[in-house]
Amino acid sequence: MTDTILIFDTTLRDGEQSPGCSMNLEEKLQVAAQLETLGVDIIEAGFAIASPGDFEAVSEVARQCKRATIASLARAATADIERAWEAVQHAERPRIHTFIATSPLHMRVKLNKSPDEVLEAIDRTVRLARNLCPDVEWSAEDATRSDPDFLARAIETAIAAGARTINLPDTVGYATPETYGAMFRDMIGRVPNADLAVFSTHCHNDLGLAVANSLAAVMAGARQVESTINGIGERAGNAAVEEIAMALKVRHDVMPVRSNIVSTEITRASRLISGITGFQVQPNKAIVGANAFAHESGIHQDGMIKDASTYEIMTPESVGLTQSSLVMGKHSGRAAFRQKLQELGYELGDNAFQDAFARFKELADAKKAVYDEDIVALVDDEVNSG
Ligand code: KIV
Ligand code: ZN
Repeated sequence: MTDTILIFDTTLRDGEQSPGCSMNLEEKLQVAAQLETLGVDIIEAGFAIASPGDFEAVSEVARQCKRATIASLARAATADIERAWEAVQHAERPRIHTFIATSPLHMRVKLNKSPDEVLEAIDRTVRLARNLCPDVEWSAEDATRSDPDFLARAIETAIAAGARTINLPDTVGYATPETYGAMFRDMIGRVPNADLAVFSTHCHNDLGLAVANSLAAVMAGARQVESTINGIGERAGNAAVEEIAMALKVRHDVMPVRSNIVSTEITRASRLISGITGFQVQPNKAIVGANAFAHESGIHQDGMIKDASTYEIMTPESVGLTQSSLVMGKHSGRAAFRQKLQELGYELGDNAFQDAFARFKELADAKKAVYDEDIVALVDDEVNSG
């Protein structure tokens, strides 16, 4: 089994399905260009049949991108699959991604189909897609709430019909790392033609487990991970590509696989998406949050000044930031205050330093954050009055 994990980015499809996240054509082309620079292997550019705008966006992304595989989503329906092909056919590496639900609940309530009818639809639509496009991905929507025996038959049918990527989504974010990993181990072990396909993860974050679940599936043999920049997506979002990529990089010791992500492009990609969608990244978000490399407490700041590895498990440069920041606040200590003064160009004698530090602590108690301008004002006052 290869040690490379393919990164399938669905920011432009599942990500765009977040309420309020829709992007225009020009924005989608900008995002697609950055996704290629970031090194994602597959870009799901949209759902071609959803609207004329989606069709145009998928077609243009397919024409523009030369390195990544370009996919369009399609339901298990002839018109969807033909429209998807029409949109991606100009790509250097086109893919049709077709899906149907396999859980008893979805088959009964949403599709109004029996399990045998669903198997027939998988066989027919995957064959149709494969006749049009050499690269076909099939997804079992709501895989994690599907009956394992039926899911295994559905996967076998899709592979026999020509699918070469099998995606098992946790559509409603219901899985835990143990159950999601076990499902992959079970399916890869029991489906007779499983070795012909790459198994793929697709996790939603309803319980905050999307990244953990994706990584558990990787450990169980999945070799494609579907994710979005900043974890945007339906409801609580999808697995965040920046977290997956950095977890694989930083914890290579326990997950001996690699991705093609150029980690130094992560910050640029994150800022591009939040700028375009207007979705702010929460400050404490892993990897790309404003506080991800910021340190306020005195003990941490002192450690950081001595050796950054005391409180950072990856460098800010590795994700495309220039440096960590020591945020001045009430938890900051003398070492950080002295460093800040040096950065601002001040050399204070011992007494003046102690007085300035005491005044800084009073100010920090009164304010949530102390900015450089506050410190400049405080020290100037101290120097002038002393
Ligand atoms: O969450 C999901 O099940 C999906 C599929 C359409 C792949 O997005
Ligand atoms: Zn999804």
